[in-house]
Order: sequence, then structure tokens, then C-alpha cells
Amino acid sequence: PRKNLTTSNHLRHVESMAHLPSGAGRITRLNALILGEALASEEDDLVFPSEDFSSQAHVSSPQKYLEMYQRSVHDPSGFWSDIASEFYWREKWGQQVYHENFDVRKGKIKIEWFKGGITNICYNCLDRNIESGKGDKTAIYWEGNEPGLDSSMTYNQLLARVCQLANYLKDVGVHKGDAVVIYLSMLMELPIAMLACARIGAIHSVVFAGFSAESLAQRIIDCRPKVVITCNAVRRGSKIIYLKEIVDSALLESAQKGIVTDVCLTYENDSAMKKEMTKWTKGRDIWWQDVILKYPVTCDVEWVDAEDPLFLLYTSGSTGKPKGVLHTTGGYMVYTATTFKYAFDYKPTDIYWCTADCGWITGHSYVTYGPLLNGATVVVFEGAPNYPDVGRCWDIVDKYKVSIFYTAPTLVRSLMREGDEHVSRYSRKSLRVLGSVGEPINPSAWRWFFNVIGDARCPISDTWWQTETGGFMITPLPGAWTQKPGSATFPFFGVQPVIVDEKGVEIEGECSGYLCVKRSWPGAFRTLHGDHERYETTYFSAFPGYYFSGDGCSRDKDGYYWLTGRVDDVINVSGHRIGTAEVESALVSHPQCAEAAVVGVEHEIGAFAAPDKIHWAPGLPKTRSGKIMRRILRKIASRQLDELGDTSTLADPTVVDQLIALADR
Ligand code: WTA
Repeated sequence: PRKNLTTSNHLRHVESMAHLPSGAGRITRLNALILGEALASEEDDLVFPSEDFSSQAHVSSPQKYLEMYQRSVHDPSGFWSDIASEFYWREKWGQQVYHENFDVRKGKIKIEWFKGGITNICYNCLDRNIESGKGDKTAIYWEGNEPGLDSSMTYNQLLARVCQLANYLKDVGVHKGDAVVIYLSMLMELPIAMLACARIGAIHSVVFAGFSAESLAQRIIDCRPKVVITCNAVRRGSKIIYLKEIVDSALLESAQKGIVTDVCLTYENDSAMKKEMTKWTKGRDIWWQDVILKYPVTCDVEWVDAEDPLFLLYTSGSTGKPKGVLHTTGGYMVYTATTFKYAFDYKPTDIYWCTADCGWITGHSYVTYGPLLNGATVVVFEGAPNYPDVGRCWDIVDKYKVSIFYTAPTLVRSLMREGDEHVSRYSRKSLRVLGSVGEPINPSAWRWFFNVIGDARCPISDTWWQTETGGFMITPLPGAWTQKPGSATFPFFGVQPVIVDEKGVEIEGECSGYLCVKRSWPGAFRTLHGDHERYETTYFSAFPGYYFSGDGCSRDKDGYYWLTGRVDDVINVSGHRIGTAEVESALVSHPQCAEAAVVGVEHEIGAFAAPDKIHWAPGLPKTRSGKIMRRILRKIASRQLDELGDTSTLADPTVVDQLIALADR
């Protein structure tokens, strides 16, 4: 049967790894020598799971993984149906568990999972867990920006709060299929608002509360929400950000374009700003606290089809307009829950903390839905990891006895710079599993995360995935895998990654190229809002027959996957995707800037998104039709001057020499 399986590359390896010895956390050199391998490169740096960990893990060995993985790709219908059956479905899905066309040459790209199945993800996150006895379990520990400001909520209490908001939304005319924009910082109200929308079948679109009024307006214009939910202000570190004012300008801008939002529901975040100080538009603006408490604490569920939309999340593209990534209900539910359970080896006694904001996909899938679907206790943190000092994360870990800690390499690197003493003064004894996401984690940061934060005891799940994929795609399963620092290891169940060359031809074995996926998985996005054609051209046309991730990747001799970063015009800063076009438009909004072109350069990523260098230039390299040739800028910026390529199509080729001179200064 393996012959039919075109992702057999890594399987072969897994089989060969299946008889590796598992030393108790003892690492690398010695083990590599035992294995008779020369420790020539990163590829040979091995970290073995401890026997203690493996013996209690959901997936305890490579063999076990292999069995499950093979079933997941040979019999996806059976594999995923079994898992889906653990959730509550009002009606079961149809005969055909999934339907897919991944090939643009065969017609419209289409992905469906569990179509005909009737369910509700909010019900599965809350009511189902309460019915199985978890009503009094803590669902959320909320830790405010200021140490000492905190609260918590049980599953029962969370359900009541969600129902009150859901009732309110219904009352102001939000129906199934309507959009609601959420522009909130990491208050408890953020996951509450997401769940309330899901309960009534409304489509939430969370916009990261660090985005500008223009970006917010652009998203409002695209999805036309009935209601915008925000708060008046928020504290982050020592700063106060006036969110409501940003919303006011965004609503003004969208109204000028003919998109009028009826209601702006505003939470009074009185630790940051008092009600009285907040600017108010009568008739449109409503205080959350004035209305929500009047509503009943129960609310009927809107039962939806598995393929009904759950949320829209905008992500940067390489051209101007952000892409409204659409996720539907059933497949996303099953996929986020399953990936959460296995990649973090989740157990009911765990306390889980993901540092991501709900404004990004990580906060959707792994602050809100994945953990709550598993009945987990989640820490939601409002503040900044370096406030009041750089030990804050470990203070929180000790305070709540966090056992699973999921963060981004940028945070790891920034804390690493501050020195070990800020870590070692905390116990961190509760930690069991660590996770990383957002960008490749370089081996030295991996080592520091493993040795210093996790006391060489906690496996690291370096999870590769994207807004588009909904959940983890390539990730270690802690306990099962021998890890290699810096590698995301192997595909999750049901995921068939392939590496292709520039012609779109699959390459086997040890290689590097473009990372694609060849079959659908339940958590895949279904379209880009209002632009299915862009969905097809952006993701399915470059290499027909495959989903193209936009990432470069290599596979080593043992079959481990190593992500090498974006190959398109998207800049990845601190794990956040920023389109070059967005930075350009911010620059040109300045009256003294006529034009701008932005390209990403390889760089040790900093803690926030500030450009390293700005070169004022008399002109930009443009084609005669006016398109800026960023390829040339990228080469100049990275000093690959002998690879400039053909510059003869430029309107004014002398610009290139001027730019080179500027860059040299
Ligand atoms: C990058 C975040 C290497 C990658 C979940 C991807 C990673 C983009 C990893 C998606 C990882 C994410 N190793 N690179 N573990 N995780 N990336 O949509 O370039 O914000 O394409 O989703 O982040 O970013 P997005």
C-alpha cells in the first residue's frame, strides 16, 4: 500500500526511526554517536523525548504515529468521521464525508467536509462540556496588564456571558450569516464575543486591535458588519491605546464609502479609561455594561451546516487589498480540537497559555476554539510580556501553574537577550510542553527555550501552519518524536505535504523547494471572501494540483521538514504577516512622500514592526507600464548585485545605479 502513498518520504523515515532508543532527555552528541552518525550539521542534532513523557503521551512512539497517520491518509473519511463523532451533531453529515477539487485544471477549487452535518461550535465548546460535568471547571483565567488585576470564569459562567451577548446581538437584528466586526484587546470579552457570534450563526471578523483606522475601515467596507464590538481604551505595558477613537474614524471612513454600521457596542474598560471621557455618537454607540446584563443567561443555539461560515480573518497579501480568509464550521471544529489535543498532548489537568492575540489566527484556533472544544482551562493575558519587567511570563506561569506554554520565536529571542536570571528566579515547575509558532525558530533560540525555560524537561512543539490552514499542518507530537531543534518535524494526521521545484514537479527525498499540500484537510479555508478567483490564483494556480503555501521548505535525509520562510512579498515580523503593500501605503500617506516600495530582507527579527532603514530615492525601478519591480529592490537590499537580472525593461534603467549608491551609504 505504501507505493500508492506519494508522501511516503517521511513515512520511510518514521519507520527507520521507529527503533531508536529513547534516552531520558539526554541529548545530541552522545546519542548521535550511539547512532553512529557524524554530528555534521543541525540535521544531526537530536533531542529525545524522555521515557516518562512518552509513556503517558497520547501518541507514545513513532510506530503509533505511523499507524494513525497511515489510516488518516488511506481512509480520511473513516479517520475523521471517528473523531467528528465525539462532538455533538444535531444531524449527522451526508454519505460523503468530504468533497474536494484541488486542481484548477479540473474546474472550480472546492473543499467540503461533513457537509449536511448540522452542529454549532459554541455549543460544542460550552454546553457539551458542561453537560459532561465540566460546568464548574475554570474555562478562562484572565490576567490583566497590571499585575494583580485578574479574574476567572468557569464554563457555566462563560456560557451565561456568551448567551447574554448572543441575545443582545439577536435583538439588534444580527441574523445567521451576518458579519460582526470585533476590535478588542485581550479582554475576556474578546473570546466571549467570538463565541456569541458563533452561537447565533453570525460570522465574526476579529481585527487585531493594533491595526490603524484605515485598515479597520478597509475590513469593515469589505465585510459590511451590522455591529462593531470594541472597548473604549486599553492599557498595554505603560501605554494607553484609545480603541474607540480608532473605531470612530474607521466608521466615519466606511460611512463615506456608503457602508453604514448600525451599532458600535463598546465595553467600558475602566482600568484604562472612564466612560465619561469617551467620545460618543448617540444612536449608534451603546455601552456593553448598560445593556448586556439585562439579557437572559440562556440562549437557543442556531444550528448550522458544517459548511456554513464561522469567521472571516483578514490576512496580508502581496498586493494591496487584504485577503478575507473564510473558515467554515464543522471541519474547522474537528481540526482545531484534534490538532490541539495531539500537538500539545493535552490532558484534562493541564493549564494552557497561548500568548497570541485573538486578532490573529493563532488566537482563534488556539486561544479560543481548540482549547475550549477540549474543555481546557485557558489563560488569557491582556498585557505585554516585558511589563512590568521581562520576568512577567514566568510570573504568570507560576501564578496559574501553566503546564502548556505556546508562544512565538520572536518572544523567545527577545527574552533570551535579557539573560537567564529573569527566568531562573521563577520555578516554572508546572511546565510540561512548550510550543512555537509564527516563523522558523532558529536552533539557538530553540535550545534556550528548551534548556532554560523548560529545564530540558519539556518537549517543544514547533507548529507550522497558516491563517489559511486553520490549524497545525507540520508539527511534532510530543512524546512520539525525536526532535531536531529548528525543524517542525512531520505532518499532522491527514496532511500530505509535498515539496515541488519551480516547475511544480514533486521532489522526493532530501531536497528543498516550495512547500505545497496535495489533498484537503478538514481545517482548510474554503475561499477568500467575495473573491473566489483570487483564492484560486493565489493558492492553487502557481502549482496546479496543489495548495501552495507561499513558504520555502527543505526536507533532510531523515525526512524532517525545515521551514525556510516566505517566498513571496509578505514580510513576517514577529510572527505577524505584514504585506509590503501595507507598509508602502502607510509611508505614502505622509505628505512628503510621493511613492514607496517595500521589500523584506533576511534579518534577525525584532520585537516590533519598525523598518530598519528607509532610503530616500529620486526614483523607483519601474516597468513602462508603471509596475515597481520589487525583485530588483530586493536584490539591492540584500546586496546581490550580480543577480539583478534583466533591467532593460525598466522605464529608466539609470535608477538602479542611483539606488545602489544610496544603499551603500
Ligand atoms: C510562518 C500563523 C516556520 C510561515 C499561524 C507561514 C512558520 C506564515 C511557522 C503564516 C513555523 C508559521 N515555522 N514558519 N512553525 N509558523 N510560520 O497566517 O511563513 O499569520 O506561511 O499564521 O508564518 O502566518 P499566519
